[in-house]
Amino acid sequence: MIGILEERISEVLFSREEIARRVREIGEQISNDYRNGSAADKRGRPPVLICVLHGALVFLADLVREIPTEIEYDFICVSSYGNGTSPGAVRLIKDLERPIEGRDVLIVEDIVDTGYTIDYLRRGFNARNPASIRICSLIDKVPRREAPVNVDYAGFTLEDDAFIVGYGMDYAELYRNLPYIGVLKPEFV
Ligand code: IMP
Repeated sequence: MIGILEERISEVLFSREEIARRVREIGEQISNDYRNGSAADKRGRPPVLICVLHGALVFLADLVREIPTEIEYDFICVSSYGNGTSPGAVRLIKDLERPIEGRDVLIVEDIVDTGYTIDYLRRGFNARNPASIRICSLIDKVPRREAPVNVDYAGFTLEDDAFIVGYGMDYAELYRNLPYIGVLKPEFV
């Protein structure tokens, strides 16, 4: 069914099926990596996936169901300051509910763009003395990077400067419920 949101999309970049396939692969890779001895938690506790709200919610929900090993998850919410403040300034809206000291932390993001958000989170988490920190992002906009951030698990790499929506990603809080990732028609931006 073509809904009102779909009529505003000019191009589908990643279909529902393509996303599902890639999420399955990443889930497998994460399960193998943490099972095969790269886990650093001295007490043998499972990794904690940290979902960066709100954009990564849909990705996390699908990803965790592709990981058959033990995991935990928690949520954090941050927002970028709008124009007029220093570039890359990030504000904490909601913190984690549980400590991550000694734990293997996997940050789950929708998009790493300039990298400022992930850089802020990584520094903040580092100060809490986790055993390890890795980054998983469905989309990696490599050419736009300004902060020194490397994505350990990337779903798709975007080489151009498209602004994308769907599968959790928004424009003005809309389009998160589209089941695929697409580009908005210019008249709706
Ligand atoms: P960064 O701090 O520049 O890396 O920005 C990361 C955040 O900006 C992501 O978590 C998204 O919420 C948002 N973002 C960046 N690019 C896009 C896009 O193309 N569509 C929707 N949100 C985006």
